[in-house]
Amino acid sequence: MEFKRTTVTAALPYANGPLHIGHIAGAYLPADLYVRYLRMRGREVIFMCGSDEHGAAITLRAKKEGISPQEIIDKYHVLIRDTFQRFGIAFDMYHRTSSPIHHQTSQDFFRVLYEKGEFTEKSSEQYYDEDYKQFLADRYITGTCPICANPNAYGDQCERCGSTLNPTDLIQPVSILSGKTPVLRQTTHWYLPLDKYQPWLEEWLIEGKKGIWKNNVYGQCSSWLKEGLQPRSMTRDLDWGVDVPLPDAEGKKLYVWLDAPIGYVSATKQWAADHGKDWELYWKDPETRLIHFIGKDNIVFHCIIFPSILHTHGEYILPDNVPANEFLNLEGEKMSTSRNHAVWLHEYLDEFPGKEDVLRYVLCSIMPEAKDSDFTWKDFQARNNSELADILGNYVNRVVSLTRKYCDGIAPGYAGAQNPDAIAVLHAQVSQQASLIADSLENFRFREAQQEFINIARAGNKYLTDEEPWKKWKASPEAVPAILHASLQVVAKLGVLARIFLPHTADRIFSLLETDGLHLSWESLASEDAIAAGHRITQVEVLPLLFEKIEDETIQRQLDRLATAKQGPAAASPEPEAHPVEAAKGEITYEDFQKMDIRLGTILEAERVPKADKLLKFKVDTGLDIRTIVSGVAEYFTPESMIGRQVPVLINLKPRTIRGVESQGMILFAEIPGGGLFALAPEEALQNGSVVK
Ligand code: MF3
Ligand code: ZN
Repeated sequence: MEFKRTTVTAALPYANGPLHIGHIAGAYLPADLYVRYLRMRGREVIFMCGSDEHGAAITLRAKKEGISPQEIIDKYHVLIRDTFQRFGIAFDMYHRTSSPIHHQTSQDFFRVLYEKGEFTEKSSEQYYDEDYKQFLADRYITGTCPICANPNAYGDQCERCGSTLNPTDLIQPVSILSGKTPVLRQTTHWYLPLDKYQPWLEEWLIEGKKGIWKNNVYGQCSSWLKEGLQPRSMTRDLDWGVDVPLPDAEGKKLYVWLDAPIGYVSATKQWAADHGKDWELYWKDPETRLIHFIGKDNIVFHCIIFPSILHTHGEYILPDNVPANEFLNLEGEKMSTSRNHAVWLHEYLDEFPGKEDVLRYVLCSIMPEAKDSDFTWKDFQARNNSELADILGNYVNRVVSLTRKYCDGIAPGYAGAQNPDAIAVLHAQVSQQASLIADSLENFRFREAQQEFINIARAGNKYLTDEEPWKKWKASPEAVPAILHASLQVVAKLGVLARIFLPHTADRIFSLLETDGLHLSWESLASEDAIAAGHRITQVEVLPLLFEKIEDETIQRQLDRLATAKQGPAAASPEPEAHPVEAAKGEITYEDFQKMDIRLGTILEAERVPKADKLLKFKVDTGLDIRTIVSGVAEYFTPESMIGRQVPVLINLKPRTIRGVESQGMILFAEIPGGGLFALAPEEALQNGSVVK
């Protein structure tokens, strides 16, 4: 069906910390590319985002920094908003969920569902901190995981083994507020009966989106549905968030994952109010297409829960597509805020002024579209130097400087062409690349689209090299102007397409061409007169390079910074955090200790466990045998980075089956306070099987 307009959203980032390149590659860059493309095609599109300012993410951060939640969101909202802007993410509206219009909008949603009788009201026992006189949200309770014995599991999840938990599953629960054991108290909440929507979801999503949504997204949704959906509470006992709009709901707030996606709607309301538009067209008109850009950790909320809410509400359109990306790693390891293993966008912008587009280019080249991918500084340097500088930059500079040299900077016409076939081929090639770009972008294949864009510069370079105007200048100078005419058209078209991929570079290309380029549009890509004969390119004295090469020292500095961060995670973190040392355990006897058989072993193989984000499966040579061990460490280490490492292994732990794999022992790691693991290794490799005691 033909759509009249498109509403594009990008996940609202929590206003609890700065953005890193993983966020950008996951959601914001693809969304921005898509929107820039649609705008260029003259389609009606709005691009909505904003700060997610509720939930435990905010209150926990506030507690850590020792300031109020309001101060936290004010600080990070501004930082994030400005960082996006500097980077060139072109939202129509960057809103915030703490705004009154959002509180109202999300309360309206709740009320509509409530009045339809959708919620099930349920009383249950939940943990309560008697010192702080409050119920504890899942993230406010830690304890020992009943599945893998990780002593730092959260009330909703064990990050080591990846299990989803309820707070009452935890062994020895502790309140992170008082550090004491919480008590159970009766409380009432409103549940969304997702189980009731399951048949509808099977039809709308499983049947309706098969072969249309990306495999990684569709796959995750089908496995959720296969497991069977459970009712999910839409309210919390909290003092920060949107009030539950019911008379007897003192101290109750909306669940952050209920209110946050509604933030897209309230952002649209604000934008519409500011621009004299009708917001409802963008959310209620069946001829509007809704597209959510997110990272993979948000899939269930955008593909299952939010659509169920929209559907149940009844007046809203549903997402047409949710092209979620996977995760971006950094130098072979998971990105980690607490270990400061990340490239922070605002720091990059400070340290690489004028190189916004280099990062855009690299992140698009390695975008984790179908599976996790890896950012390395060496690759960043290589792509800048050999693709942006040598291919794109060099081409543009060559064409402009040849025009100045042979044509006095006055754009020549077609007259005198000696090899019209080659010119026709070149133009046809550009048009063809443009339609490939269109097709790739329409289908969310951003890496491919950008490749096709660079291929235009490659084709232009090849044409110049084949035609050799510098040689012809001596033998038959009358042939040269037409060659440059053709080449200038290509440069102008690269400028047009750069508005999608490299917006800062687009401006620079047009300034080299000494035009604002405003007369050029997508349609100009088929024109042979984008830069008309007679146009002057004479003003600039010394042509600036479009892209400078990046030196080894620059890259080394970044690598050094990451290495330092790894050695002293707390000290090097952008927001130093103090981490309490875990409390001592009870006394054991020497005999107890002696029961443990710990050996040094070498990891021979490592791989991810399908459908278990947190798990790695290892083959370990223990010196006695080669065995399989499953550990919940995929968040901290890539499989590749573990192969060949020697590690301590508890070999006489009773085997357990985790996600269908029998794990025969446990690899021991040191925990990094505040999150993360450190792989322990002997200073030099010893024989496998050496006893650790
Ligand atoms: N704040 C969430 C996160 O960073 C994303 C919220 S997306 C929204 O993971 F839809 F809820 F807004
Ligand atoms: Zn666990």
